[in-house]
Amino acid sequence: MQPVRVGIIGGGIWGNYHLLAAKHLENEGKAQLVAIATRTEASASKQSAAFGIPGYTDYRRMIDEQDLDAVTICTPDHLHREMTLYALERGKHVLVEKPMDLTTRGCRAMVELAERKRLLLQVDYHKRYDPYNMDLRQKVRAGKIGEPYYAYAYMEDKIIVPTQWLKGWAAESSPFWFIGVHKYDLVRWITGREALAVFAHGSKGKLTMLGIDTFDAVTACIEMEGGLTCTIDVNWILPAQFEAVVNQGVRIVGSEGIVELDGQDRGARYGFAADGMLTPNLGAIAMGDSVFGWKEPHGYFVDAIKDFLLNALYLKYGGELEQLAERYPSGKDGLAVTRVAQAVETSIREHRPVQISEVL
Ligand SMILES: NC(=O)c1ccc[n+]([C@@H]2O[C@H](COP(=O)([O-])OP(=O)(O)OC[C@H]3O[C@@H](n4cnc5c(N)ncnc54)[C@H](O)[C@@H]3O)[C@@H](O)[C@H]2O)c1
Repeated sequence: MQPVRVGIIGGGIWGNYHLLAAKHLENEGKAQLVAIATRTEASASKQSAAFGIPGYTDYRRMIDEQDLDAVTICTPDHLHREMTLYALERGKHVLVEKPMDLTTRGCRAMVELAERKRLLLQVDYHKRYDPYNMDLRQKVRAGKIGEPYYAYAYMEDKIIVPTQWLKGWAAESSPFWFIGVHKYDLVRWITGREALAVFAHGSKGKLTMLGIDTFDAVTACIEMEGGLTCTIDVNWILPAQFEAVVNQGVRIVGSEGIVELDGQDRGARYGFAADGMLTPNLGAIAMGDSVFGWKEPHGYFVDAIKDFLLNALYLKYGGELEQLAERYPSGKDGLAVTRVAQAVETSIREHRPVQISEVL
């Protein structure tokens, strides 16, 4: 079997998961991690040395010079569009990080090009790969809670995310663009309902005081089809002392029942003299082991990326795109989420409810 040959663009915090996922499938003979492109010489050579692959500082050269089947993109949000279009134009399947693009126009251009070229365009909305969320969806879709009446989802990051992790580009983002999109994608995916209107509020203070001009927190009330209302609360200013990088959950109440998940606390607790209390996230547990030598990373962070590579492998061996439909977060899903995030932005700015039909 010839593996899927993949190049990765972006080798920052999230790029590490892309590299790990590809490396794991390489160990299984299903993928080949061919090259990496980052912005600076220093980061390119660091990842290139760590993974034993060529490193580029020009992603176009990587795509043009290497014989790739697929490209994964994990660069700051505003760069996703140009990189995706370049890769698709040259016949590569693409996994792009969320949010797909900050504009519906950009998302549409990406979807249209992928369709014209008959290529896979997948978006890394990885909450769909959390087995608990999958189960929750199955129950809701099977009618177990009856008619869904309201959904509530929250996601809260530690302040190190905008101040240290996204150094240099947090002000281009917001808690809704960075994490709220995950929660809207999740509720939409679970219920199968589309948004009709949005009323949102944003709070500023702490981060602007620290010199990063963006929202601390956002609340979005989303009216969805069939009388469903969805409230999403997000912030990225949890104190450094909080026991995990992220706190999150979802609950959906219907005429016949309720489903809810504390997505952060699955019952495991660590307490270390060096680190204090920690609650491990199911997204990234047992990420490979230097003590016992096993290499397989676990958790839905990497499962979502591996799914893309396996989809690309399926296509390489003659599978049809149509057969994969509805089985992965597609470009069209990415577009639907960006549409709502744009409505959230407009609603905050203009302090009024925004109809989704207004967002073209
Ligand atoms: N799926 C998730 O849950 C999740 C979680 C965190 C981040 N993300 C997304 O992943 C993306 C990257 O986030 P991050 O936290 O890794 O950011 P980061 O700042 O740590 O890394 C960004 C990387 O992009 C590279 N880059 C920047 N400009 C480039 C260019 N012109 N050419 C090539 N490489 C370039 C940088 O060198 C760096 O390696 C963002 O879109 C973010 O929203 C997704």
